[in-house]
Amino acid sequence: MSESAPATSRVLVTGGAGFIGSHTVVELLEAGFEVCVVDDFSNASPKVIGRIVEIVGETRASHLHFHEVDICDEAALSRVFDEERPEAVIHFAGFKAVGESVAKPLAYYSNNLGGTLTLCRVMEAHDVRAIVFSSSSTVYGDPDEVPLTEASPKKNATNPYGWTKWMIEQILSDLWVADDRWDVVLLRYFNPIGAHPSGLIGEDPKGIPNNLVPYVAQVAVGRRDAVHVYGNDYPTPDGTGIRDYIHVVDLAKGHVAALEWMAGRRGVEIFNLGTGRGSSVLEVIDAYAAASGREIPYVIDPRRPGDIARNWADASKAERELGWRAAYDLADMCRDSWHWQSMNPEGYEA
Ligand code: WQD
Repeated sequence: MSESAPATSRVLVTGGAGFIGSHTVVELLEAGFEVCVVDDFSNASPKVIGRIVEIVGETRASHLHFHEVDICDEAALSRVFDEERPEAVIHFAGFKAVGESVAKPLAYYSNNLGGTLTLCRVMEAHDVRAIVFSSSSTVYGDPDEVPLTEASPKKNATNPYGWTKWMIEQILSDLWVADDRWDVVLLRYFNPIGAHPSGLIGEDPKGIPNNLVPYVAQVAVGRRDAVHVYGNDYPTPDGTGIRDYIHVVDLAKGHVAALEWMAGRRGVEIFNLGTGRGSSVLEVIDAYAAASGREIPYVIDPRRPGDIARNWADASKAERELGWRAAYDLADMCRDSWHWQSMNPEGYEA
């Protein structure tokens, strides 16, 4: 990729009121970016914007612009680009519940793929071709070996949600093949957990949490009786699934590093954002009990269809190229998650 042009300063963030989006907006503002958030609140609370302002303070918040827009609404999105003139986009907006995607594939393909295609059309129409995409380690499927590098093979997804990540990576890569002015970074997240240390923003899933840590957090705070451990007969040391959990603030900082790295470049670049360490379900439960000081009861259930035994990242490319590495460990992640959950027992809509 060739280097030229000054660093980006005006960035548009789709889904910027969501879990990872909101933490990334905080880091962007604190790094001095002009930030435009586009979110329709279909999967986020409007209260997040006020919490972001509370974290960064009034001065930095003067560089935050917000538009309640569905990225599938091409005319509305185009008006935002006319007004805000972004130089780059970080694209988070999308539905992300694995189980729901199996039940509602049309909604997931329409929203996640349709929204991305609309976004790319509007970007091109405004001569904006720098995009960071929120991808996922799910594109690696059930890996033959770990740790996973960016050269590890993409495998078939096991659900429509995973397929949308897989396909959007392909769409963005094909855009560059057709027009080499595109500047694409694909960030493959492992398992984002935790919360901003202020406790003002955090993970607030609607309904019953699909993911492990928000479920554990709700057990710790007394909203649920016990964690359901999906299988303890995997080929792992304690029989439960192993994942690479990464602090959401580390992940957010990875986006700032990617934006600064890609300024003026062209091409498609992939980075794994993980810690390089795996933790089992039971290790997470123990760490959360230690962080919260609460008993975390659990029961062993059958395996969840589509789950894999283990995955964790080789994140050395991001360290080498972006100068980024995860700073927080599992204890930090559980401490900050618990701080958020205990300050917001019912999430944002208390
Ligand atoms: C982790 C481990 C489960 C819940 C998914 C998506 C990925 C990303 C993160 C969005 C596994 C076990 C879980 C529970 C359990 N999504 N578990 N009881 O499945 O690794 O990844 O979420 O960004 O793209 O694929 O995360 O937290 O659901 O599961 O025992 O109530 O916890 O079996 O071993 P997963 P997870």
